[in-house]
Amino acid sequence: MKALQCLSYGDPPELRIAETAGPEPGPGEALIAVEAVGIGGFDAVLLGGRYQERPAPPFVPGRELAGRVLAVGEGGDPALVGLRVAAIAFTGALAERAVARCDHCMATPPDMDAATAASVLSAYATSLYALETCGRMRAGETVLVLGGAGTVGAAAIDIARGLGGRVVAAASSAEKLAFCRARGADLAVDYGAADWRRAMTETLGGGVDLVLDPVGGALSEPAFRSLAPGGRHLVVGFAAGEIPRLPLNLPLLKRASVVGVDWGGFMQQEPAANRALLARLRTLFEAGILRPERPIVHPLSALVGLLDDFRNRRSVGKPVIRLDFDTVR
Ligand SMILES: NC(=O)c1ccc[n+]([C@@H]2O[C@H](COP(=O)([O-])OP(=O)(O)OC[C@H]3O[C@@H](n4cnc5c(N)ncnc54)[C@H](OP(=O)(O)O)[C@@H]3O)[C@@H](O)[C@H]2O)c1
Repeated sequence: MKALQCLSYGDPPELRIAETAGPEPGPGEALIAVEAVGIGGFDAVLLGGRYQERPAPPFVPGRELAGRVLAVGEGGDPALVGLRVAAIAFTGALAERAVARCDHCMATPPDMDAATAASVLSAYATSLYALETCGRMRAGETVLVLGGAGTVGAAAIDIARGLGGRVVAAASSAEKLAFCRARGADLAVDYGAADWRRAMTETLGGGVDLVLDPVGGALSEPAFRSLAPGGRHLVVGFAAGEIPRLPLNLPLLKRASVVGVDWGGFMQQEPAANRALLARLRTLFEAGILRPERPIVHPLSALVGLLDDFRNRRSVGKPVIRLDFDTVR
């Protein structure tokens, strides 16, 4: 089969299209004919050589995909065979065929096209796990989403809105703020502005109940300070590159919590609970409660530019690559 291989890490990485032996599904895995691959900040970090795990080159990159299940390995879920799925593969998705653990696959909702399916699973599952499981969000609560135009942030806006929350999205440019409003944010805040926190709480008439924080850095402390008593700050990631420190008098004074969110660890260590999470996510899509935006679809030749956009904070939403090995040299 044809596959994209990473020959060496870097910005840009060294990539080539190669003819490789197709993967075989191992125990509990599904073999998937790949239709579309979602690209995110993770791919930029991994291919730049900055992720904690570094597969030995040559390897096939691509974490998140949509396609049709061709077969399952021993102990895999036979009901998946023939179904269209969204799946997390970690690596190997930028190929004609890929494998993913059966319990890391979600059967695609009937009305969802492959490009959308390739863009939703990681961001939506992370945000649903963060808001409902970790944050115990209730309808009517106010949710501040940092990095609202990022992959996780955009999904969090949709989920918080769908679960009946009042959504405040924060981002760094006029274009990104317009995107957040279009995704359903009730209020969009430019967190590059001086004293953005005070302006936001004045507009809201009080603090927020939850902060969903995939950005970290200098934003986390003012975001935590904007919590109302009993609030929950959901630590999702550190896209800004800096892990913030929080004075512990703040949680005490506010009777507020810092809650760690690690969907990757959850999906590995709690497979039954993760299956229930993915079933809940699919129900919310099918019921039309969640309304993911159809992503922009790019050819494979656009990959390096997309990685560059993530690295330089230009990306809005989650782009998708439709595999077109026959047209790329
Ligand atoms: N815990 C989990 O289970 C889990 C799951 C998925 C992802 N994550 C993590 O969540 C974080 C965000 O992932 P993502 O896929 O949403 O990333 P993304 O699409 O690149 O979005 C990140 C956002 O962070 C903001 N940002 C601020 N400083 C930045 C910088 N120096 N470089 C890049 N972005 C910067 C950007 O918005 P502005 O320009 O508007 O500030 C950007 O839109 C990552 O750290 C990822 O590893 C965690």
